[in-house]
Amino acid sequence: MCGIVGFIGNEPVYEKIIKGLSRLEYRGYDSAGLAVIENNELLVRKCKGKVADLQNNVGSQVLGSTIGIGHTRWATHGVPNDVNAHPHFGENKNIALIHNGIIENYASLKEALIGRGHHFVSETDTEVLVHFIEDIRDSEQVSLFEAVRMALTEVVGAYAIVVLDQSNPDELIVAKKSSPLVIGIGSNDDYYIASDATPIIEYTKNVVYLNDEEVAKLNRREGLTIVNIQNQKQTPYIQELELKLEAIEKGGYDSFMLKEIHEQPRSIQDSFRGRLNLKQGVVKMSGIDDHEERWKNAGRIVVVACGTSWHAGLVAEYLFEDFARIPVEVEYASEFRYRNPVLFTDDIVIAISQSGETADTLAAIELAKEKGAFIFGVCNVVGSTISRATHSGAYTHAGPEIGVASTKAFTAQVTVLFQMALALAEKRGTLSSGRLSRLVAELNSLPIKITEVLKTNEQVEQIAQIYKNRSNALYLGRGYSFPVALEGALKLKEISYIHAEGYPAAEMKHGPIALIDENMPVIVIATEGASYEKVVSNIQEVKARKGQIIAIVTEGDKTVKAMADHVIEIPRTDDSLVPILSAVPLQLFSYHVAIMRGCNVDQPRNLAKSVTVE
Ligand code: F6R
Repeated sequence: MCGIVGFIGNEPVYEKIIKGLSRLEYRGYDSAGLAVIENNELLVRKCKGKVADLQNNVGSQVLGSTIGIGHTRWATHGVPNDVNAHPHFGENKNIALIHNGIIENYASLKEALIGRGHHFVSETDTEVLVHFIEDIRDSEQVSLFEAVRMALTEVVGAYAIVVLDQSNPDELIVAKKSSPLVIGIGSNDDYYIASDATPIIEYTKNVVYLNDEEVAKLNRREGLTIVNIQNQKQTPYIQELELKLEAIEKGGYDSFMLKEIHEQPRSIQDSFRGRLNLKQGVVKMSGIDDHEERWKNAGRIVVVACGTSWHAGLVAEYLFEDFARIPVEVEYASEFRYRNPVLFTDDIVIAISQSGETADTLAAIELAKEKGAFIFGVCNVVGSTISRATHSGAYTHAGPEIGVASTKAFTAQVTVLFQMALALAEKRGTLSSGRLSRLVAELNSLPIKITEVLKTNEQVEQIAQIYKNRSNALYLGRGYSFPVALEGALKLKEISYIHAEGYPAAEMKHGPIALIDENMPVIVIATEGASYEKVVSNIQEVKARKGQIIAIVTEGDKTVKAMADHVIEIPRTDDSLVPILSAVPLQLFSYHVAIMRGCNVDQPRNLAKSVTVE
């Protein structure tokens, strides 16, 4: 949801800005812009479109500036066009500002500023913020650093900002609240600023994650100064990044999505590495061990999440209830916040988020905290806002996910939730040690089984070729496979723009069956397990109405094979682990359909990777 970068140092920054913005483009790609100080003048280039369009816009101009800022936008206030693109300027066009977030009280600020003679050219909240800062600086005769701090005491909303002043080419001012911001500290008095560490990693591993309501000054002579919004000096906490450069590059694949799908044997392994004790047949999770009594005595688990992470939460509902016998409710974070939810003191709230930045999930966490709940985070991005806002948690360790459609993050989330369910079952004595050991061993064998599933790629591509021009698709599953049906449908609609619906297979006869005719592909997860026979009946119901069946089946299956138009076989596993295997061919199907329809799978229209607005 908007990516921001800033550089100040001893080397030209233009290439760094472009490269940094390309790395952050997954956060938004409606428009791109930059500002540098070139020959003592503020030079700004911005345009609708992607970073490549910005590069074309800059053309062959040689930019030698050693200070600059850049922005890639996901539009909130105002349509994506050149004028609404960032950076925005103050009245006198000498201060430029980039922003990720939303200024909620921008309308009242704007009205007051218009009254004070300010003129606005864009529809954005960001332009209001830069005028406000400028107004304070000029009227109070304070430094830009102080003006930013003072302005932010009156701002309601979320922000990560970088401010550049033409009259001070030795300094950048940054601040953040509820939107992420990282400062990289180079060896040669160089500073790097970005929404996440990916634009920074090739220059330095030393970073400072700015805390909420902190304002920092990066000055060539004075170095880094941080104050909080109350103007108290803060000591920067420098951390070493663990991220590797290879992890954020395509590594020979045509897209990040395809790379990330193929990374799943490793990402799943990483999400259980060090947690499985195969000898004893148990799972060790420090986030659960450290709060053992609370987990043992939990009366209920409430999961809050959005999108794909919400689907992982639905799988968790089955897992926790099945293995640990704890009642579970799974809530859309956005709805949870706007009800008046009932939380009990023995409830545990699990927040699931790949990015760890999703505003709705964060707001649900804040509400649950206010009500005194204990919050456990399942996040992928280390050091993210949600991972820091929770009382305890478990990282999924899937590595950076850059494709906007979530793939390896989903399977890693389910892997972590599976382990949590086993750890709880052991503590609560709800599973026999034999069953626990078998499940632990089965989880351990999953990376090899995912490698097998990935071998279906060509077959899935052929099936995609047949269905690529359909307008609709129905996904059906039961039990553990119902959330996977929802996830399969979401993948297809978000990257190929084909309308798709996921349903519990048995619900089909209560309405959606009316949609079935010879043009409707029905993708059914029909693996062996508790509801296999019932799903077979559902397949027959579809075939009786001339629907076309693409079935995900257990290897060696004969019954479904005899009825379905296409079957994709996956290795045999426990019913509870099928979601991890069956999600993969559905990801591949969406991927191939989208590619055949000429869609950009890494940057689907209207979407952004981390949704930091509510
Ligand atoms: C779908 C997708 C989104 C995210 C959702 C939550 O492929 O990526 O639905 O799952 O925006 O994001 P996180 O998990 O970062 O909180």
